[in-house]
Parts: sequence; structure tokens; C-alpha cells
Amino acid sequence: MDKQLRKVVIAGNWKMNKTPAQTTALINEIKPLVKDAKCDVVVCVPYIDLFAALEATKGTNIKVGAENCHWAKSGAFTGEISADMLKACGVPYVVIGHSERRTYFGDTDVTVRDRTRAALDAGLTVILCVGEYLEQRQQNITMEVVRQQVKIALNGVSEQELDNIIIAYEPVWAIGTGLTATAQQANEVNKGIRDLICELYGKTAADKTVVQYGGSMNAANAQELLKQPDVDGGLIGGASLKAADFAAIVAAASK
Ligand code: PGA
Repeated sequence: MDKQLRKVVIAGNWKMNKTPAQTTALINEIKPLVKDAKCDVVVCVPYIDLFAALEATKGTNIKVGAENCHWAKSGAFTGEISADMLKACGVPYVVIGHSERRTYFGDTDVTVRDRTRAALDAGLTVILCVGEYLEQRQQNITMEVVRQQVKIALNGVSEQELDNIIIAYEPVWAIGTGLTATAQQANEVNKGIRDLICELYGKTAADKTVVQYGGSMNAANAQELLKQPDVDGGLIGGASLKAADFAAIVAAASK
């Protein structure tokens, strides 16, 4: 299918950065720069900044996301936030399975699946992150690793629910390191993910599933990555904290 028929989504992942006041300021800077975007624009921010982000993006083309959610609806999980809580606050997107969560906070393929389930049940759109470690790429098992991550996360997800899932391929070695996958490497894995969606759900579903690339995408390399046939946008960390850089990536995706 013609890539033009798929949505392109540029999402910022702010990680553990910005206070509420800084959130308002950064969004106010981004707003005018992306107002004519021909792609979807999302900013995923720390929980504590969600209300400021929702307020600052009111009436704009910028959508707001959280960076994680718990799998239970409520209960004895000190320090956690449920998908239902995010929904109740008016948050439409949530990042799940980011490699920093998997590496530092014990998220596993199974808890990523459970968080995905909870988010879909709450009516959120999930940005599902997958990606291999450097040693796995060196051992030539990238596609096996990524296929397993995607397959487990989508366990029990219906074809209709798949409309609410964006998959972000983020090679772990490229996140926050300044190393970027080449456009060919990014496209190869993104295509592999699309092929897997085709195996699991059929061609129609595969053709419309948004598969992003993430990992040191910036103003300089975005265009080359985004013009690949299977790269439908980006999940942007560092560069999403600078309005001009984030806007340049949105502009590259709008071409
Ligand atoms: P980076 O982060 O752009 O800073 O590499 C990407 C991400 O963590 O989603």
C-alpha cells in the first residue's frame, strides 16, 4: 500500500524532564511552529506535567500522551498510575514498553502486554516500543527479538484494537546515544514488523499500522529516515525538548 495512505505520527518523549511551568513554556513555543503540520503531533510528558500539557495544547493540533501506565485498574500499587486514570484526565496517548522502562524498571514482555491490554481497555492509543540491544544486533537476532516483543505485546489484541496501536521501533543502542540506525536499518526492521502484522492480522491491517522509528532522530537526519517506505513517523527523545528541532522533524514528516 502507498505509504501516503498511512498516518504519519511524530511523538515527543520528554522522559524525566520539565516542570509544569516549563511544560507550558515549551508547548507554547512549539505550538506556532507545528500548527500547519500534515502529520499527527504528540507530546508525551511526565505524569506531573499532563495537566499543564493538556491546558497548553487546548484548541491546537498537538495531542498529549503519558510515558507509561500500570496494568491494573486500581489497587495497592504505590506510586503507580492506571490507564483509567489517564483516560479520566483526558489523556489520549500512552507510551508503553520504552527500553528505559524495560532496562531500569523491570518491564518485561509480559508486563508490557498487560499494560497494553489495560491501555486499550481504557480507550487510550498506545505507542508500543520495541527494539534490540547492541549485542543482539551483533548476534544477528534483531528481528527475532523484535518479533517476540511485538508478538507478546499484541497477544489477545483484536484487529479492531490494532487501530489504536502505534509501534515504535527503537534500537536500544541508538536511544540517547547520538547513534542513529541508518535509514536502511530502520526501514528493514520496520518492514519486518509490518510483515509480522501481516502474518498475524492480514494485509489490510499491516498496510494501515503506523510503525515509527526512534533513536537519536533529529532535525538533521529526520528527512532521510522519514522518507523510507516503512517509517511512518518518529518517537523523539532529546530533540523533542527543543522547540525548533522538534518542529523541524514535524516539518520533515509533513513533506
Ligand atoms: P532519543 O530518545 O531521541 O533521545 O534517542 C528516543 C526515545 O527514547 O524515544
